[in-house]
Amino acid sequence: MSLFRKIQDSLVRPLAMRALLTLERIESGVAYNPLSPALRADPYPVYEALRRKDPVHRMRLQDAWVLTDYADVDMVLRDSRRFGNAGREFGYIPQVSMLDLDPPEHARIRGLVSHGFTPRSVAALEPRIRETVRTLLSSVSGKERFDLIAALAFPLPVIVIAEMLGVPPEDRERFNEWSNVVSLIVDPLLNDEQVRQVQQAVSEVFTYFEAVAEERRRNPQDDLVSALVTAEVDSERLERDDLLVNLLLVLVAGNETTRNLIGNGTLALLRHPHELEKLRDDMELLGGAIEELLRFDSPVQLDSRVARERVVLRGRRIAPGQRVICILGAANRDPQVFTDADRMDVGRPAGNHLAFGRGIHYCLGAPLARLEARVAFEELLPRLDGLRLAEEPRYRDQVTLRGLEFLWLESA
Ligand code: HEM
Repeated sequence: MSLFRKIQDSLVRPLAMRALLTLERIESGVAYNPLSPALRADPYPVYEALRRKDPVHRMRLQDAWVLTDYADVDMVLRDSRRFGNAGREFGYIPQVSMLDLDPPEHARIRGLVSHGFTPRSVAALEPRIRETVRTLLSSVSGKERFDLIAALAFPLPVIVIAEMLGVPPEDRERFNEWSNVVSLIVDPLLNDEQVRQVQQAVSEVFTYFEAVAEERRRNPQDDLVSALVTAEVDSERLERDDLLVNLLLVLVAGNETTRNLIGNGTLALLRHPHELEKLRDDMELLGGAIEELLRFDSPVQLDSRVARERVVLRGRRIAPGQRVICILGAANRDPQVFTDADRMDVGRPAGNHLAFGRGIHYCLGAPLARLEARVAFEELLPRLDGLRLAEEPRYRDQVTLRGLEFLWLESA
């Protein structure tokens, strides 16, 4: 049990947490508390302080190091020999997806799963994605007030993935609920009730997909489950557990992240009306603008690794087995890499952001996420004329992912 979990479970949790954060502040002049509501609302000033005062920061709530400088984050994500993914999972379920594997197993599983994500199969989804976006937006057209998360950002990725997986429409509601619960699995600090909910949902998802996979083995269709059950590399196939846990990964990795890109991106545009106008006047900028939105308010804020050997970084000694938390959201605002990094600029040359990670675990779904975002913004931007924020939006209570609970818009 981690030090954090022991403290959480004890009655002295608030006091102990305060003491550990004070210790951090004494040691480095800055503290990193992922549970702080202030960080949730706006993490960027804290990231800036960490990067300036202590870019390789010893976190005391967990036995971990926190990196905020682009060059360090980039180095760690590329160096899969010294910084691995295996062993970083939080142990909520026994099965391990490709996300938590190291070479050579990682390449084998990723090679098999990527059969379902060929450029051709992703590009072929565009007409259906557009039809879905139009249907979703037409249900709110003419309304004085609506929540863009509920209307578009939440349902779109779920529908796209459900269709890719071959989930029939009558199962969509259950699929929505599972998707919401299982995405908690990427958070390091769940309470016991959340862990129970995640395990229950995972068990239901596994039972469901096991039956679908069995059916597709006998009767392959044009969907992702069929692609995965028939995929073969060097005469190897996915075993049952690998198949199920990687289907689960697609569900977890693809839904809330894409929802956050659409939600955070729309909010950023509404808060920068000049940039929104620039983009609406020249839709050719959209591809680059999506990269800028990914950089500016990254849907996945953290990515972690476990040190495989002793590493000295900027004079700090990282011990084997210690967790290294790479703050993608901070690296993406590093002024040494991005000029005027806190400014959102839809015309910024499409960059080198780390929102999809880097190295061997680079997001397998990036082309799909970009396609969904492009189609969503192509359809949404003309409609944003005359719409404004109806109330201050709130970010969801999460550590790893950053996204809005709701985004209420109203006619101007
Ligand atoms: C804006 C949307 C998205 C963002 C910001 C995002 C971000 C990321 C990041 C940061 C990683 C790297 C994790 C690591 O290094 O440990 C990752 C991996 C992954 N993502 Fe995404 N993702 C998005 C959408 C999607 C979609 C739509 C899918 C699939 C439907 C997907 C599937 C995956 C998979 C399978 C991996 C694991 C790759 C591996 O371990 O080799 N993602 N994603």
